[in-house]
Amino acid sequence: MSCLNTLYEQKVKDGDLKPDPLQKKIADQLDQLCVKLADYTPVKLEIGGLFKSFKKLWQKPVVKIKGIYLVGPVGRGKSMLMDLFYSQAPVQKKMRTHFHVFMQKVHKKFHALELENPKGEDPIPKLAEDIVRKTWLLCFDEFQINDIADAMILGRLFEHLFNLGVVIVATSNVHMEGLFQNRPGADAFKPFIVLLQQNMDELELCSDHDYRLGRKEIKTKWLIGCNQKNHDILDQVFLQESGGKQGQQVELTVMGHVFIISCAAGKVAKFQFQYLCDTALGAGDYLALTQKYKVLIIENIPVFNPENMDVIERFTTLIDVLYEQHTILYVSAETDWDHIYPKENRAAFFERTISRLYEMQSQDWTN
Ligand SMILES: Nc1ncnc2c1ncn2[C@@H]1O[C@H](COP(=O)(O)OP(=O)(O)O)[C@@H](O)[C@H]1O
Ligand SMILES: [Mg+2]
Repeated sequence: MSCLNTLYEQKVKDGDLKPDPLQKKIADQLDQLCVKLADYTPVKLEIGGLFKSFKKLWQKPVVKIKGIYLVGPVGRGKSMLMDLFYSQAPVQKKMRTHFHVFMQKVHKKFHALELENPKGEDPIPKLAEDIVRKTWLLCFDEFQINDIADAMILGRLFEHLFNLGVVIVATSNVHMEGLFQNRPGADAFKPFIVLLQQNMDELELCSDHDYRLGRKEIKTKWLIGCNQKNHDILDQVFLQESGGKQGQQVELTVMGHVFIISCAAGKVAKFQFQYLCDTALGAGDYLALTQKYKVLIIENIPVFNPENMDVIERFTTLIDVLYEQHTILYVSAETDWDHIYPKENRAAFFERTISRLYEMQSQDWTN
């Protein structure tokens, strides 16, 4: 029997969590999903010789369990609840990952399959099959779709995954209805939203309290002023973190292109903001970067121009990746993190970035 509820209540009793009736309600629903999962095997996996008659089976109806799409503002405990669920879910073949990380793997695998298969067969069924062999309960933290390339692949991939009986639980700051809307190509994306609605129940967690705020002491890793004094301090940080080694140029190859890091040594890399967020770099590059370097220094973060959404979205992606990988970030910036994107024109998704920058400045952001 599932014990997610008991675990949640125990954490409240122990003082690890503050009592929160809205969280408790979500914990109940996640608990019910655990109970259903205990008796569930995706139909396709029950059949011997797994995917031999894959194409024929494709058409058969599957008795499915609906997953959960947990939506709400930042700091409400969505990821915490999903992690509790993940720890208790009675499934061996399960995976919990940040959505960016998953998408990077999907793109990599997609291209590898395309290369292996010059006849031009659709790589998506094989991709879905490979995923299901390893895991059929997928938990995604921070589900979001920023990019048309992701949108195109995901719709079809998810259709195959759901057909195979995969159960998906995800957290997000965006309602399903709002995913990838107001962008070129949004209409073509609508059937995907319907598919999500058919296969996942949307639950909202929107208590008043942002548990991140006011929790931790702030230490200065965010230097205000793009001036020589601050850049000297950042040079000292670099030397401390590199164990006294001078920085050198390093080249990383990421999915076939070269990503040049002009100054890196040991576990630290240093960048100019403009290079990192105003050139054609993306989540794949940022992920490769954080896998190699634990500490990142970014110089000269400006006040953002609200019309330059490319830069703002790239910065958001960068911070999401750094946060997920627990990278330590030092910066010099024109102003504090709450004012780099003027509030009056700030896009809603940036609130998450602000909350994360806040958390990443705390002293215990190193564990
Ligand atoms: N009920 C609670 N009491 C105390 N801390 C909490 C509670 N719920 C969440 N937190 C903490 O607040 C922080 C933010 O929670 P998180 O799950 O990351 O929020 P979200 O995913 O909604 O942005 C985490 O460090 C989490 O452990
Ligand atoms: Mg979260």
